[in-house]
Amino acid sequence: MAPPALPQEMNPAALQSSDSANEFPVIDLQGAHEEVVKQIREACIGWGGFQIVNHGVPPALMERMRQMAKEFFALPVEEKWKHSASSPTTTVDLFHGYGTKEFGTKGALDLGDQLRHKTWPLSARAYEQWPTYPASFRDTEEEYLQQQEKLCQHLMELISESLGLNPSYLNDFFGEDYQQTFLVNHYPPHPDPTCTVGIQKHSDFSGLTILMQNVEGLQFIKDGEWIMAKVIPDAYVINLGDQIEILTNGLYKSPEHRSLLNYAERFTIMSFASPPDAKVVGPMAEFVTKSRPIYKTRTYAQYRTEVMTIPHMAKALVADA
Ligand code: OGA
Ligand code: NI
Repeated sequence: MAPPALPQEMNPAALQSSDSANEFPVIDLQGAHEEVVKQIREACIGWGGFQIVNHGVPPALMERMRQMAKEFFALPVEEKWKHSASSPTTTVDLFHGYGTKEFGTKGALDLGDQLRHKTWPLSARAYEQWPTYPASFRDTEEEYLQQQEKLCQHLMELISESLGLNPSYLNDFFGEDYQQTFLVNHYPPHPDPTCTVGIQKHSDFSGLTILMQNVEGLQFIKDGEWIMAKVIPDAYVINLGDQIEILTNGLYKSPEHRSLLNYAERFTIMSFASPPDAKVVGPMAEFVTKSRPIYKTRTYAQYRTEVMTIPHMAKALVADA
C-alpha cells in the first residue's frame, strides 16, 4: 500500500527554492567586534540564526567528535541500546541516552536515531548513558562539552550586546545552573530523500542551539521559502530558541527549521543551552512595545510541558492580559 501523501508543508520537495536571493547568514567571529555584533543583531531579527566561522573550537576536536559519533552509530542497534540507555523508549522528547525516532506526528515519520545526554549541571550527568564504545567516546564528549560551554558563553555575550544589554546579561540570566543538553542526530543515507523528512518543522524550545552537520539537510524558513544552511567545513549553525524569543518579546526569532534526509549518511552534533527549570521567563520591559503582542511569562518547565503536550504550539505566546 502506498503511504499517504504528505501534507504540503511537510513535503520536502515543496517550498524549496534553489534560486532564492535569501542566504542564511555567515558570521566570522574574528571580524571587527562592532561589525560582528551588528551582524548578529541583523541575523537574529531576520532569521533567528546564523552560521559562525573562526569560533575558536579546535577543528581537530570537532573531527574527533564526529568520528566517535560515526563509529557509535555504526554499531548494531541492540548494541547501541546496551551501550547507552537503560531501556528503549519511543518518546523522543523524554528519553535520555540512546533512542530511535520512529514516532509519528501528523501521520509522518521522522527518521533516524539519536543520542541525548543532559550534561549540565554536573549533577544531571548520567555517565552510565554515555557510550563506552568507541573507548575514547566519553573523554572526547567531555572535552567537546567544555568547548561548547565556552562557545555558548561567548555567543550569549555577543547576543546580549547586540540587544543593547550588558554583555553578561544572558549568561547571568541563564545562570551557573543553566541546562546543557548534548544531542547527536543520526540520519541513515536515503535512496529517495524527498520521500520524507529527517526532522519535521519545529522551533527549539530551549535558549540557544549550536549545531554541526557533516552533509546538507538543515533548512530555515524565510519569506515562506525553505533555505538550506550550506555546509561550511568546521562551521557551526547557531539558532535561537523560544526562551530568547520570549525574553526579547519577539524582537529576536526562534526560527522554524527542519532537516531533509540526504543520499549520504548524515550526522548533526548539537548542544542546547536552556534556563534552569524553575527560572521564570517573560519579556523584558525594554522589549515590550505596542506593536507586538506581549508574550506570556512562565517557568521554563511550565513552558516545556505546554509545548510538549500541545504539539506545534511552540510559540504559545499570547499575552496574559
Ligand atoms: C533538533 C534539530 C536538526 C538536524 O534536533 O532540534 O533541529 O539537522 N536538528 O539534526
Ligand atoms: Ni531543532
